[in-house]
Amino acid sequence: MPESPLYRSGVEVLAFANHKGGVAKTTSCVHLAGALSRAGYRVLVIDADPQAQASYYFAETDEEADADLQDVLVRRTPMDKVITSTRYQHIDLLPATLALAELDMDLVTAAKREEQVTRAIRQVEDRYDFVVIDLPPALSVTVTCCLAASTRVLIPVGTTVWALRSLGSFLGWSSRLRQAEIITAPVLGILPTFYDSRNSIDAEVLSVLRRRRDEDGMPLFDTVVPKRTAAEGQVREHAIVGEVGMHPDLNRAYLAFGDEVLERLGRTTRDADHG
Ligand SMILES: Nc1ncnc2c1ncn2[C@@H]1O[C@H](COP(=O)(O)OP(=O)(O)OP(=O)(O)O)[C@@H](O)[C@H]1O
Ligand SMILES: [Mg+2]
Repeated sequence: MPESPLYRSGVEVLAFANHKGGVAKTTSCVHLAGALSRAGYRVLVIDADPQAQASYYFAETDEEADADLQDVLVRRTPMDKVITSTRYQHIDLLPATLALAELDMDLVTAAKREEQVTRAIRQVEDRYDFVVIDLPPALSVTVTCCLAASTRVLIPVGTTVWALRSLGSFLGWSSRLRQAEIITAPVLGILPTFYDSRNSIDAEVLSVLRRRRDEDGMPLFDTVVPKRTAAEGQVREHAIVGEVGMHPDLNRAYLAFGDEVLERLGRTTRDADHG
């Protein structure tokens, strides 16, 4: 299988994808960025969702950003002009705005559209060890173009029956894009989220996921993110892993998730330039 051109540059591009809404894509993306930066890596968060929730987490003000990925891809604004710093030294943000909702229509008629996000990331590849992309809940042109630039796909999935069905359809859709050589990134892992140990359906869904891992080799993370109502408060506080304001169970889960991601990529904290 051909590799994403970005493999050769050394930057890992990790996309959080699932067309099912509300499965903790953004939450997992935000905390992974936090965990990677805590491990000493330089991280760029690309918010590719017009809901702009990852941007809300990281932006230094509550005001909508001036520019987004659409400006980079359509108006050819240099990445440097759109990327903003965050309150974290090693995390930068390419913010989203509501205007990003139009990007799909722009990309439909764009030449070589599947190369565009890759080219954008190439502009800044020397500055980051990881690019993490928060995708909207869609199977859209924008999502396809972001996946085409990715080196790995991460799929959060709620431990519900509907989520399990959506996982099957997402894996089918993405494997067709892989066969067409539009996507080259393998799935790094499926992350069970919203797990409620008191609910027997959650336990059943988790055991189905684990059976598929054992019998079919489906890549499943060992980490299971529990359902905790405190997650909403963390959004309000803009708290990310390791910070006051994180629920201890969610903190533990997302630090373990970060460790698992690094381990699966064969990276350690020692690979980083800074601690
Ligand atoms: N472990 C958790 N327990 C309880 N609530 C959670 C948990 N993780 C996330 N949430 C909350 O669930 C909601 C959906 O999470 P999130 O926005 O991360 O999902 P998403 O997949 O990005 O959604 P969308 O598809 O709309 O982009 C948010 O309000 C979030 O704060
Ligand atoms: Mg989201």
